[in-house]
Amino acid sequence: MTGMTGTAGMSDTTDRVLGDAAARAAAYLRGLDGRAVAPGEGSLRGLAAFDEPLPEGGCEGTGVLRALDEWGSPATVAVAGRRYFGFVIGGSLPVAVGASWLASAWDQNAGLAIASPVSAHLERVVSGWVLDLLGLPAESCVGFVTGATMANFTAVCAARHRLLQRAGWDVEARGLFGAPEVRVVVGEEVHSSMTKALALAGFGRERVERVPTDAQGRLIGAKLPALDERTLVCVQAGNVNTGSFDPVGEVCERARPSGAWVHVDGAFGMWARACPARAGLAAGIEGADSWATDCHKWLNVPYDSGLVVCRDGAAVRAGMAAPAPYLIEGSAREPYHYVPEMSRRARGIEVWAALKSLGRSGVGALVERCCRHAARFAEALASAGFEIPHEVVLNQVLVRFGDDEQTDRVIAAVQREGTCWCGGTTWKGRRAMRISVSSWATTEADVERSVGAIAACAREVGLG
Ligand SMILES: Cc1ncc(COP(=O)(O)O)c(C=O)c1O
Repeated sequence: MTGMTGTAGMSDTTDRVLGDAAARAAAYLRGLDGRAVAPGEGSLRGLAAFDEPLPEGGCEGTGVLRALDEWGSPATVAVAGRRYFGFVIGGSLPVAVGASWLASAWDQNAGLAIASPVSAHLERVVSGWVLDLLGLPAESCVGFVTGATMANFTAVCAARHRLLQRAGWDVEARGLFGAPEVRVVVGEEVHSSMTKALALAGFGRERVERVPTDAQGRLIGAKLPALDERTLVCVQAGNVNTGSFDPVGEVCERARPSGAWVHVDGAFGMWARACPARAGLAAGIEGADSWATDCHKWLNVPYDSGLVVCRDGAAVRAGMAAPAPYLIEGSAREPYHYVPEMSRRARGIEVWAALKSLGRSGVGALVERCCRHAARFAEALASAGFEIPHEVVLNQVLVRFGDDEQTDRVIAAVQREGTCWCGGTTWKGRRAMRISVSSWATTEADVERSVGAIAACAREVGLG
């Protein structure tokens, strides 16, 4: 590769390097529709080009970007394209990518207001917008974290503080050794991110009480144990397999008189609140104490970006604040008091850009479009003779193709064929393909094309 051996690493002008990056990124995105969603074997083998010893000398910036693009771009998964339906991974809105570039150029440290007045200001604006859009209590505090896992963790720490403080225990000062017991109640279908958050906070993955769930994976409200003021109940808005919601409103009603803390893991499902036709799924969610959601999933901003929302800002602050004499604090809210990180990137800027560009109606339309696409997937695949083992209520669809082994063969064939990408899961003890429609970019034509490709893969396996 030419241009890789120079010693003058800073010889390129900033304009040339950034202009080159923008041109390469745009060309990459333009090319996605014409390539397989998953990288091929040849592209993966091409990653070996990166395996060189640490260069003794530097390299021009444009040469570095050329290497990254030529060796790296082909080995990406086209999640930014229109037919990626794996996990719950949304594409990024172009305006959010652009805002992220500008924010990177600003290189702001979002931890302290004095280090980035613009980030602190935008976080305040976005907090108000998000509370309004999702219909959450206006007095809540909002923290900008890496994703739902950290949002769950932050909320659990806030609950831990408040529940133990009521019992006369200062958990931040004394830790959990010798602390009064806190009961933790979750649904059988709790996401592993939630149990990880509980483990990180010292509550353990195993000592939680699991409430049975129904055929859709919803916690059965009538089976909740008696709650009290030292209980944390973690429910979910959006099951990662079926998209269904725990009866959050009912759980909140039960919890309120007892003083139990209700936390909602709404990694993607919280955004249903922005869509009038789907908001009923999350009825009563505003009665909870804390909420976790992701912006990098359904709001379609670049990774990494999640939000923790908590009615009891003082409890979050008690768990997260880490003041030090050199950290100059103003009179305004200090962002680092509400999240686990101190220094961090200004991820609120992309959230602002996404919300500013979509507006209330645009977020609702994005959610509704994805749900309609999911319903069409289910309808078309069911009429092609395949099994949809649940009611499709949101953007998640499970499909079974014959038995477990045949289902896994179809999933592998779809991933190899490359028109679209869908993952697998085990639902109620049986294998299923998962389709998650989470991108602004997916069109009806993409759904039809993907259905055709999936059906062809099933025929290849001897089905349909
Ligand atoms: C319900 C639920 N909670 C938590 C998570 C974890 O989110 P993240 O990977 O952004 O931390 C997911 C991811 O899909 C999820 O579906």
